[in-house]
Amino acid sequence: MAHRWTNTLTHADVTPRVAFLNRRQVMAGLAGVGLAGLARPAAAQEALEPNTWEEITSYNNYYEFGTGKGDPAENAHRLTTDPWTVKIDGMVDKPGDYGFDDILKGQALEQRIYRFRCVEAWSMVVPWVGFELGDLLKRVGVQSGAKYVAFETLVRPSEMIGQKRNVLDWPYREGLTLNEAMHPLTLMSTGIYDEPLPNQNGAPIRLVVPWKYGFKSIKSIVRITLTDKQPPISWELANPREYGFFSNVNPNVDHPRWSQATERKIGGGLFAKRVPTAMFNGYEKEVASLYKGMDLTKNF
Ligand code: MTE
Repeated sequence: MAHRWTNTLTHADVTPRVAFLNRRQVMAGLAGVGLAGLARPAAAQEALEPNTWEEITSYNNYYEFGTGKGDPAENAHRLTTDPWTVKIDGMVDKPGDYGFDDILKGQALEQRIYRFRCVEAWSMVVPWVGFELGDLLKRVGVQSGAKYVAFETLVRPSEMIGQKRNVLDWPYREGLTLNEAMHPLTLMSTGIYDEPLPNQNGAPIRLVVPWKYGFKSIKSIVRITLTDKQPPISWELANPREYGFFSNVNPNVDHPRWSQATERKIGGGLFAKRVPTAMFNGYEKEVASLYKGMDLTKNF
């Protein structure tokens, strides 16, 4: 497949926050070109109304900075994100320690508006800036036999004060099947609106997998490993009964302690009605084929 974009965009070029809403339609049209071959009408993107910068950056989960929804915004400023190195290893042709700039080199930054839904049944719409993980993986050369991609977050308790407690077994770990990782909807994000990622949202680089519960979208990544074995992931390690490897958004499979059938849109006001959750978070047409023949109640 021909490359969709040339790498001429930088953070300075992407749409400013104010102009963003007006240009939404144009960008959605461009995203439609980028995803040529996928059955995704631009109109489906266009219907998404992004949350505000304040909503996206002040209410979230990032346990390295504490377990409260306001803790990341309060504590993440301590994190040094420059210099930043991502180790890419395992079953790849070009393993190495890549600096953040090396990672960006040759990648086409673009803006994409994605629905984002947490396992705790709240949701947002976020205008991410990023590039396709698949493009990075192609660049480092995935070897035959690789079946999974494993990710790790930084461990630095001096700056990540939540790591002083063992609420999770650090580092935070996540994983995808290679097919999921190569899917064009799977982004490595480096920004939101026209800004580099704020620390609390996973600076300088994080994953975004829009059809899965939010915890799969691991933040502040320092290691990407190609492997032939299903990698352990933090939440499944912590509680295998409640969290599975796939964690696809699925209104028909409840979390053991709460329903996943509806969600609360952040920004809708305290008394806003809950809305029904869509299968695969609304990306069913694009991703359902990845799970053909699988029992999604067993592979949750
Ligand atoms: N990544 C790390 N390293 N640590 C975390 O605690 N929380 C996850 C995910 N990635 C988390 C993480 C969860 S539960 C959610 S819902 C999303 O980040 C929140 O992403 P957001 O800040 O963009 O809303």
